[in-house]
Amino acid sequence: MKRVAIIGAGTMGHGIAQVAAVAGFGTRLTDADTEALPRALERVRTNLAGGVGRGKISQDAADAAIERLQIADTVAEAVRDADLVIEAVVEDLSVKQALFAEIEPLIAEDTVLATNTSSLSIAGIAESARVPHRVVGMHFFNPVHIMKLVEVVTHDAADPAVVERVRDAATRMGKDPIVVRDSPGFASSRLGIALGLEAMRMVEEGVASPEDIDKALELGYGHPMGPLKVSDLVGLDVRLRIAEYLHRTLDAPHFAPPEILRRMVEANTLGKKTGKGFYPWQTKESS
Ligand code: NAI
Repeated sequence: MKRVAIIGAGTMGHGIAQVAAVAGFGTRLTDADTEALPRALERVRTNLAGGVGRGKISQDAADAAIERLQIADTVAEAVRDADLVIEAVVEDLSVKQALFAEIEPLIAEDTVLATNTSSLSIAGIAESARVPHRVVGMHFFNPVHIMKLVEVVTHDAADPAVVERVRDAATRMGKDPIVVRDSPGFASSRLGIALGLEAMRMVEEGVASPEDIDKALELGYGHPMGPLKVSDLVGLDVRLRIAEYLHRTLDAPHFAPPEILRRMVEANTLGKKTGKGFYPWQTKESS
């Protein structure tokens, strides 16, 4: 694989574009909202400058990555010649299906279609594709340039060779991939959401402050970051959508979204991206 296209330049898309470009892939990034693209590029530059400052990457390597990262105005331009297309658009099954249907006629037979969905059924996304065996999950974590895990999600119709190619691409991007069978929430979201929602219910019940609830897991169990801080970083709107989906598909009461989460999302208190969630955040990229 040499060329990667990323569709969706938000929280995840810009980070995936960054790690792909740093890994040496010719990388094209596009978004339906053209204003998202310069913002994404700026975030990548800021991340890389931070990496140079911390000695994680040389200035030359950072410059070369920026050179390899191209902004594309349309999906068609982004996926042209791509060996791997990774979608990171809104967490909505019909939007993702429509996007893959739009992309399929534009790509070669052996181009791999990967989705960064954090919870939707990969088989469900793949079943709308003309060639379902080349559709797999490639689930990155936020912030992408820092988190090592990628869940490569396979399904009954997936070609094992495609799964291997995606695993290999993730490794080249500096990640430590695991292979997970397609099931609601995969391994990570199912566990992470359960913990996050319970922590929110505890805030709601006044059990302790968000800081202290997070500290309970950070200091008591060695989690590097508590579930409320994680939720703020992920985005509370994203967490709500996933919780609703898991509640529906797994039919388990502990996935029912707590009232506090609904209220915060309604108030556009979405976490780091809006400057406030369970914690106050500076809007400037802190990575
Ligand atoms: P985001 O809202 O930050 O970015 C999504 C971007 O996609 C937006 O810029 C939007 O304009 C664009 N977009 C929407 N529909 C589009 C279309 N049809 N074509 C092109 N661009 C389109 O969302 P975020 O957080 O980056 O999430 C993206 C995906 O990644 C979702 O599936 C989410 O579940 C998943 N994910 C999110 C994580 C997180 O921590 N935020 C972690 C892992 C996965």
